[in-house]
Amino acid sequence: MRSPKKLIAGNWKMNGSLEFNSTLMHSLLGGDLHANACDVAVCAPSVYLAQIHALLLSAGSSPIHLGAQDISAHEKGAYTGEISVSMLKDFGVAYAIVGHSERRQFHHESDQLVAIKAERALSAGITPIVCVGETQQERGVGLTEVIVKRQLAAVIHLVGHCITEIVVAYEPVWAIGTGLTATPEQAQSVHAVLRAQLRAAAGDGAQKIRILYGGSMNAANAKSLLSQPDIDGGLIGGAALKAADFLAIVASA
Ligand code: PGA
Repeated sequence: MRSPKKLIAGNWKMNGSLEFNSTLMHSLLGGDLHANACDVAVCAPSVYLAQIHALLLSAGSSPIHLGAQDISAHEKGAYTGEISVSMLKDFGVAYAIVGHSERRQFHHESDQLVAIKAERALSAGITPIVCVGETQQERGVGLTEVIVKRQLAAVIHLVGHCITEIVVAYEPVWAIGTGLTATPEQAQSVHAVLRAQLRAAAGDGAQKIRILYGGSMNAANAKSLLSQPDIDGGLIGGAALKAADFLAIVASA
């Protein structure tokens, strides 16, 4: 019987300000985070990680973990504009999204680069949230499985020895920020494919790997998605910017 602790992670993307973040975090910290029932993380823009880190420290033993939205594939040195895993560790970062479709699309990140980033995160003790997902066009021509398996295979190839330490996020590109959500059955069927691929790599260890769903998850649809057998949490964009919605999703988990 599988029963990994669910993970609800907010992906703020390029949103927020000092004032907005402070208000949002105070609302979240004042809400019911069901600390024992599920893990909660917020992935903030990198310039605000120090702010959120300080807010979490001043709140004492907060059940909210801090996440980054990307990391450098390099350890350190002449990589202008990039942020290393050791810098993120300085601010208590526990999770890092790697391979989000917006980075694959707008920054031309390849499967191999995403795999290297996952490896880099693991080497620093940061849990990578590895995103995979097909476009509308790929789904339309029946390529969903091929695409997500190819994206995950690159990561398994590089970090297969510690694959049970990663989190996977299935995010159909056509559902991100569009208000279109995969039905629970559509999501579950892809999650089952990913679970089988992880099982082939890690055996029974695959049972504890969390596979999140992302793509217009909100307070209204979270419960039905999160009740699917292979959906172990959510990666939340738009709804993570509204405390009441995010807390409602956490409560559904
Ligand atoms: P969304 O974004 O919830 O706004 O669709 C999810 C994501 O891109 O991680």
